[in-house]
Amino acid sequence: MAIFGKDEAKNDARAAARPQEEKLPRHVAIIMDGNGRWAQRRGMPRSFGHKAGVEALREVIRHSDELGIQALTIYAFSCENWKRSAEEVGALMGLLLEYFARELQELHRKNVRIRILGDIDGMPERFEKQKKALHDAVLCTEANTGLCLNIALNYGGQQEIVRAARNLAIRAAGGEIAPQQIDTAAFESELYTAGLPDVDLLIRTSGEMRLSNFLLYQLAYAEFYTTDTLWPDFDREAYDKALLAYAGRNRRFGGV
Ligand code: IPE
Ligand code: IPE
Ligand code: MG
Repeated sequence: MAIFGKDEAKNDARAAARPQEEKLPRHVAIIMDGNGRWAQRRGMPRSFGHKAGVEALREVIRHSDELGIQALTIYAFSCENWKRSAEEVGALMGLLLEYFARELQELHRKNVRIRILGDIDGMPERFEKQKKALHDAVLCTEANTGLCLNIALNYGGQQEIVRAARNLAIRAAGGEIAPQQIDTAAFESELYTAGLPDVDLLIRTSGEMRLSNFLLYQLAYAEFYTTDTLWPDFDREAYDKALLAYAGRNRRFGGV
């Protein structure tokens, strides 16, 4: 009985440390950074940090789903991350396969819709299995109506903007759309995030203060939250703290 009471008090305290529903962001984007440093501090290889990072990600997805957040966009692998050693890239790509093998059914059961942002078909041929797993995950969850989980992979914000411009140019050259009709709505319809609300809250872990080519268009009026916490240590409480900080922001969108 005493233990029950204690747990209840703990739950109450947690709930109090969480913003009210109407103050939650609709769309959260996360630059999950610091896996390598987390591992290095433990005298372990970088891949150990990535593995731990996947565990943190699982919890953040679960929490987003439970809170009823509409969209969660996570930066999993940038166009520039190919610069890393073959060993590290291989480890990351291996984790990707493991992740879907282990999590896809649970995500599907929870009505989560998976979208991939980035150039999947442009990934090197040796990652054929990964490409298939990504396409399968998207297809499998296509009709789901719960949390929209967007995984940015082989993704670059500049590349996404150029791709949208190219697609519009192709449509204009084909006579499908007049150049004068190209406005923000037409442009947004060619982005990977078409149909989703703009990002409300951007979280970056590990203390870095840069965008690293993430969602350059969609972040126009996002609130920026950074924490020194390294990604593998970013737990539900850390997430709640970010959500609470967001709830206290005064968003003006250029007004007063
Ligand atoms: C983020 O952690 C994960 C990916 C980029 C895939 P890092 O690997 O960038 O970790 P640090 O920044 O080197 O510590
Ligand atoms: C951004 O982190 C990419 C991901 C989290 C996937 P990086 O660690 O690659 O960014 P930089 O190089 O520090 O800017
Ligand atoms: Mg990093």
